[in-house]
Parts: sequence; C-alpha cells; structure tokens
Amino acid sequence: MIKLTNLTKVYGKLTAVNSINLTVQPGEVFGFLGPNGAGKTTTIKMMAGLLQPTAGSIEICGFDVQNNALAAKAVTGFIPDRPYLYDKLTAEEFMAFVSRLYSMQDPSKRISELLALFGLADWSNELVENFSHGMKQRLVMASSLLHEPKVLVVDEPMVGLDPRGARLVKDLFKDLASRGVTIFMSTHTLEIVEAMCSRVAIINKGDIIAEGSVEELGRLARMENSHLEPIFLKLTGGDEAIE
Ligand SMILES: Nc1ncnc2c1ncn2[C@@H]1O[C@H](COP(=O)(O)OP(=O)(O)OP(=O)(O)O)[C@@H](O)[C@H]1O
Ligand SMILES: [Mg+2]
Repeated sequence: MIKLTNLTKVYGKLTAVNSINLTVQPGEVFGFLGPNGAGKTTTIKMMAGLLQPTAGSIEICGFDVQNNALAAKAVTGFIPDRPYLYDKLTAEEFMAFVSRLYSMQDPSKRISELLALFGLADWSNELVENFSHGMKQRLVMASSLLHEPKVLVVDEPMVGLDPRGARLVKDLFKDLASRGVTIFMSTHTLEIVEAMCSRVAIINKGDIIAEGSVEELGRLARMENSHLEPIFLKLTGGDEAIE
C-alpha cells in the first residue's frame, strides 16, 4: 500500500509537487501520467526516499518514508528513469552487491533466476560497461526485485526496452500485481496504461488534475469511450487541444 498525504516539493520559487494526495492499494497497477516537467520524477524520488519532501508525508506499507526510512526501503523496489550502475562490475557482481545491501542470505539462486528472467543469463559475467541501454535497464529491473518488494515504484519503465522486453515487463508487472504487489509507475506510453493500469492519476504543473480508471477520466473529460490519448490531451491542454 502507498499513501501520499499533502506531499509537496518546492525548488526555490517553483512548486514542483503541490500538496498531492494519493492512495494505491495492494495488487493495483497505478499509472502516474503528466506532461514533461509536471512533477512525476520529483514525486517518485520522494517515494523512494531520495528526495526530502518540503511538506507532507509518504507511507509505504504503513512505514513512514522519512521517520522509518529503512523499514520503508526494505519493502520498496525502485526503478529509476536513468539506471545508475557500476561499469566495472559484471551483471552478477552487481546483483550480488545489491543483495548484500538488502542483507539477503544466500541470494545466488534468486540472482540466476532473475538474470534468466530478464534475458541476461548469457551476460552474467560480462562487465556492465559493455551493456546496451536496454540491457542496463533490464539489469536494474532485475536488481530491484531481488528482495521481493511489496511495493514497486517505477519511473518510465518502457524507455529503451525492445518490444520483447516491453512485453516481458508488462507480463511481469501484471503477475506481481496479481500476487498483491503494489505497482506505481510513471509513463508517457498511454497504450501501456490502457493495457495495464487499473487506475491512473494525471499530474500537471504539480497538481493532480484527475484520478480514476481510464473510463472515469473519459467521463471527466466528457469523452466517454475514447482512448486515453485524446482524454489526456484535453485534460492537460484545455479545450483548445481537442480536435
Ligand atoms: N533539482 C531540481 N532543482 C530545481 N528544479 C528542479 C529540480 N528537479 C526538477 N526540477 C523542476 O521540477 C519540475 C518537475 O520536474 P520532474 O523531473 O519531476 O518532472 P517530470 O514530470 O518527471 O517530467 P518528465 O516527463 O520530463 O520526466 C520541473 O519544472 C523541473 O525543472
Ligand atoms: Mg521524469
């Protein structure tokens, strides 16, 4: 479960995230949408404990991200938009390193399972510096799942993945959600949201301007039975944006 309460981030004069409230239940795949610069990554970094909120709070599975940071991080998997890896480690060494950060006992079986799941089994002894962007993205995803997180926070999961990789991630997220994992993901790929997300929120200039299922957003935009793209454009661009 994820609960954001009056969550706010101010950078100088700019309010990047303006007192937002959201609750995401276990088993939900929640889509976090919004134009460039709307505040998605800022929100996600606060959820992952990487940025200090200016005001408000975040609970992950009942643990306050600021006051109980270690407990919150122990149940969270975070996949950033730009993977940060160590060039001079092999894929397997990187996985072993992350498993130690989570104090995992005897992680080797899980490491090989995850490397295989993400199509990296043949690359496990290869240095990360030789990996393509998509392979790095796969490795970060694999490492984020090592400790079997209950909440997965993902910033732009599909960027850089090939069609097979994107399919894998879609199936994986659905499977994790069916087993009770809470998934919170930002994305610009609206077809993926339509295919995967039970609920979405749209953030625009730091404010949540709409929240609900795709159908509910359609009603809000007075565009019932439309695809998400025209709904999104209308809700984020005003009336002049519709054809
Ligand atoms: N460290 C920072 N210092 C000052 N302003 C920042 C900082 N990080 C982000 N911002 C500003 O905060 C706003 C929100 O940025 P954020 O990265 O959260 O947007 P986003 O919704 O993730 O956009 P995108 O879709 O492009 O990834 C932007 O106006 C950005 O310029
Ligand atoms: Mg972003």
